[in-house]
Amino acid sequence: MKLEFPKDFLWGSATASYQVEGAVNQDGKGMTSWDKYYHMPNRKYNGDVSTDHYNRYKEDIKLLSEINQKTYRFSVSWARIFPNGSGEINEKGLQFYDNLVDELLANNIEPNLTLYHWDMPLALMDKGGWLNREVVDNFVEYSKVLFTHFRGRVKLWSTINEPASEVMGGYIQGAHPPLRKNYTEALQVAHHLNLAHAKAVKLFNEMNMEGEIGIVLNPMPIHPASDKEEDIIAAKRAYDFYSDWYIAPILAGKYPERMLEECQKKYNSPKIEPGDMEILKGAKVDYLGVNYYMRRVVANNPDSTGNIDDCFKNVRVKDGNYTEWGWEIYPEGLYELLSRIQKDYGKIDFYITENGMGFYDKVESNGQVIDDDRLDYIRQHIIQIHRCLEDGINIKGYYVWSAIDLLSWTNGFEKRYGLIRVDFDTLERSIKKSGRWYADFIANNYIEYNE
Ligand code: BG6
Repeated sequence: MKLEFPKDFLWGSATASYQVEGAVNQDGKGMTSWDKYYHMPNRKYNGDVSTDHYNRYKEDIKLLSEINQKTYRFSVSWARIFPNGSGEINEKGLQFYDNLVDELLANNIEPNLTLYHWDMPLALMDKGGWLNREVVDNFVEYSKVLFTHFRGRVKLWSTINEPASEVMGGYIQGAHPPLRKNYTEALQVAHHLNLAHAKAVKLFNEMNMEGEIGIVLNPMPIHPASDKEEDIIAAKRAYDFYSDWYIAPILAGKYPERMLEECQKKYNSPKIEPGDMEILKGAKVDYLGVNYYMRRVVANNPDSTGNIDDCFKNVRVKDGNYTEWGWEIYPEGLYELLSRIQKDYGKIDFYITENGMGFYDKVESNGQVIDDDRLDYIRQHIIQIHRCLEDGINIKGYYVWSAIDLLSWTNGFEKRYGLIRVDFDTLERSIKKSGRWYADFIANNYIEYNE
């Protein structure tokens, strides 16, 4: 059976500024929160050079074109545009993205620009980062520069990548800058990220920008570990915590009621100022970007200390299929998740803004990477996209994470995702088997399905 896709479906792949660009001190770029973090004692790697995409973007775009990419999702490093977070614009930084966008367009690759993928200018982090409400306005100022500059050339815009990861990593687990573990702060940061997103969307509309604007979330389907009532309740709470807390403000301009009540009682957070919820409500997105990697299975946690995220605990499924990094491969979760969002909030356009598989890639003696598992992972998820489309869920594009090997935030250069391999000693690039397969698939625009 042939699973065919709409002609105008956008197939592509993605990266993010800090993870690929390198060139951390080049052309007047300011320091970012991650530059500081990775230069703290005992850090084993950093993004100082990474793939050196900043200097090799032409070669990379040539390879993207060779594997038939119709679209490429990248992020702009705020500190290249505003080395001090705000104020004076660094023209050379802007020039790099100019060159990148023009090169993509010249190769018929649709740029999808993410305004913020976690690399906050250090100058802003030093004044409190997202915890400081003023940073919301700094973000709007920065968005305006990019909207003005790329008007008409960039038609796909994403405001913020994964607010949930920024909140969890930076303010609950303390694994990402600014290494905080504080629920009151975490919830406030989530609210400020929503405000920053909403104000940027408002500006986009006021400026009559051509194209679409959305946000990139990473919601997950959550299953209870058993049919015991306590596990079912745990799964509901986990869905509120990981997924709906971020979806509801974007699609309905509200926070999930039960969790909001609990958070305000326990942590007195988030503080919502008069008018804030109207701002969120008024910012209608053109699409929802979904990064999908895995599902979670959770059980009730009898040892909970009472915090919002430890009333449930993650459980490893006995016969589950896991990656080398312990992420469960569960393609049907993509269909479940989008069906649930559409059921809860009504019809909306989606882009799958990230999906991919992290591996310790093995290089054959002839230099090739025969990454059949990654290929199969991508194929299985594309089949689920077809299932969604058949069922009236409107997905308009799909981005493999990642276009090329890059720095994984907490796993460095060993965990690889790319369709294109990077030898981090020589910085040589080569297309992996998954990249060749994806290129053929895009050219055909169908999958042969006999399972
Ligand atoms: C997503 C991020 O959460 O997951 C990417 O948007 C990230 O930036 C990807 O690289 C994979 O996560 P990790 O930790 O394996 O790099």
